[in-house]
Amino acid sequence: MAEGVFKEGLLQGKVAFITGGSSGINLGIAAHFVKAGAKVAINGRNVEKLEGAVKALQAHGTAMGVPADVRDYAALEKALLTVREAYGEIDILVCGAAGNFPAPALGISSNGFKAVMDIDVLGTFNACRAAFEHLRKPGASVLNISAPQAYLPTAMQAHVCAAKAGVEMLTRVLAIEWGGAGVRINSIVPGPIDDTEGMRRLAPSESSRQRIAEALPLRRMGTQADIAQLALFLVSDAASYITGSMMVCDGGWSLLGSGLIMQAVGS
Ligand code: COA
Repeated sequence: MAEGVFKEGLLQGKVAFITGGSSGINLGIAAHFVKAGAKVAINGRNVEKLEGAVKALQAHGTAMGVPADVRDYAALEKALLTVREAYGEIDILVCGAAGNFPAPALGISSNGFKAVMDIDVLGTFNACRAAFEHLRKPGASVLNISAPQAYLPTAMQAHVCAAKAGVEMLTRVLAIEWGGAGVRINSIVPGPIDDTEGMRRLAPSESSRQRIAEALPLRRMGTQADIAQLALFLVSDAASYITGSMMVCDGGWSLLGSGLIMQAVGS
C-alpha cells in the first residue's frame, strides 16, 4: 500500500461503522481503516456477501458484520447497539450504501426512483440520525459517499442526481447542526473507480472503461486506495477544522461536465 496519509496505528482505539461496507469503495475504506488499527463494523443487506467481506478484513485486523437495510431505521438502531456492545462507542460513521442503475427517466418506475432515493437519502439520514447518540464526541466524524451526479445534471441518472444532491445538502445541514457537539460531517465525491459495482453498471465493457480513462484529465481510472486515503485524512485529526465540505476525488472527471458520464451510461 502506498503510505500516503496511511500510517500504522493512525486509527488505533477508534471504532468505525460503515454502511454498504461489503463491496467497492466502502470495502476499500474499511480495509484501510482496519489496517490503520480501527475496529470496523461493516453493514450490508446481503448476509453472504457481508460475511465474505468480514473474513477478508479480519485477515488484517478487527472487523465484524452487522446486517441491516439502511431503509429500516429500527434495524440500523439494532445494528449500532450490537457494535457498541462489541467495540464501544463509535468514532467514525461512513454512509456508503447507495443504489444505481442507468435508465432514462421514462424507464424508471415510481418504485425504482423511490428505491434509489430511499437507499441514498433516507438511508444516509437514518444512519446519521441513529448513530448520533453512539458517536463518541468530540472528535467524531461522518463521511457521506456522494457522486458527481449531485451537481452535474446527467441523462439516464435522474434518480441518482436527485438522490446525491439530497445527500450533499443533508451533509451540510448536519454539519451546521452537529458542529457544536464536536461532530464533523463531510462528503466524498468519487470519480470512476475501478473494481466497483457502480462502475461495472455504468461502464460494463472494457472499451467503455478505456474510453473513460483516456478522456480523464489524469488519464487513469481511480483506485479504491485513492478514495480510502482521502477518507483516512478526513477522519483524522489533520482534518479537525473541516466540516460540511464536499471533497472531490475524481481525476478531474467532473471538470468535464456530465458528458463523459453520459457516454458511460450509454445515453
Ligand atoms: N432499470 C429500471 N428499473 C430498475 C432497474 C433497472 N436496471 N433495477 C431495479 N429497478 C426497479 C425495479 O423494477 C423496481 O421497480 P418496480 O417495482 O416498479 O418494478 C424498483 O427498481 C425496486 O427494485 P427492487 O429490486 O425491488 O429494489 P431494491 O430495493 O433491491 O433496489 C436497486 C434496487 C437497483 C436500487 C439496488 O438493488 C441497487 O442499486 N443495487 C446495486 C448497488 C450498486 O450499484 N451500488 C453502487 C451504487 S453507485
